Amino acid sequence: MRIFAFAGSNSSTSINKRLVIFALKSFPEAEINLIDLNDYEMPIFSVDREKAGYPEQAYLFLENINQCDLIVCSLSENNRNFSVAFKNVFDWCSRINAKVFQDKKMFVMTTSPGGFGGGNSMNLAKNIFPAFGGNILQTFSLPKFYENFNDEDGILDQTLLADFNQKIKDLQENF
Ligand SMILES: Cc1cc2nc3c(=O)[nH]c(=O)nc-3n(C[C@H](O)[C@H](O)[C@H](O)COP(=O)(O)O)c2cc1C
Repeated sequence: MRIFAFAGSNSSTSINKRLVIFALKSFPEAEINLIDLNDYEMPIFSVDREKAGYPEQAYLFLENINQCDLIVCSLSENNRNFSVAFKNVFDWCSRINAKVFQDKKMFVMTTSPGGFGGGNSMNLAKNIFPAFGGNILQTFSLPKFYENFNDEDGILDQTLLADFNQKIKDLQENF
């Protein structure tokens, strides 16, 4: 199984990236392609700029998706929305291929320091990704990241950990 993994954040200390790295440990057999969204930074999308063509990074992001069997991502939340870094990649890619996620299976996560765990970004993803070719198999939101997670032990809260493990199990059984 080839996994394309990313956090929807351009933060060098992204908590969503930390969650992605933890989740990837559940796929020890997989071939992992974990990217940093900073390597896909492009000018802010505009209809004027696209007249000059599309940035190479947008094609590369789409090619990463094309080459995978499963997308594992964790989306950050800014003002109850995706981060501008992810939205910009999404916008550019959508103009090249409206099926951004190319019918690939997805494990979509969110986390934030707050009690809703990026739930607004999650709701947005659930609502719109299917229209952009995303086949969401499972989702997981981790609330109160700094209370519920450390890099050594992963998810600390036992109820949340059991939920996470069950979702990974279901995903792998139905893959
Ligand atoms: C401009 C801004 C807006 C934010 N808005 C929200 C929000 O609406 N909901 C939320 O749960 N967290 C919000 N946060 C907190 C982020 O979830 C937090 O910064 C988190 O670390 C972002 O994820 P990342 O570390 O993966 O980039 C916001 C942070 C910033 C800087």
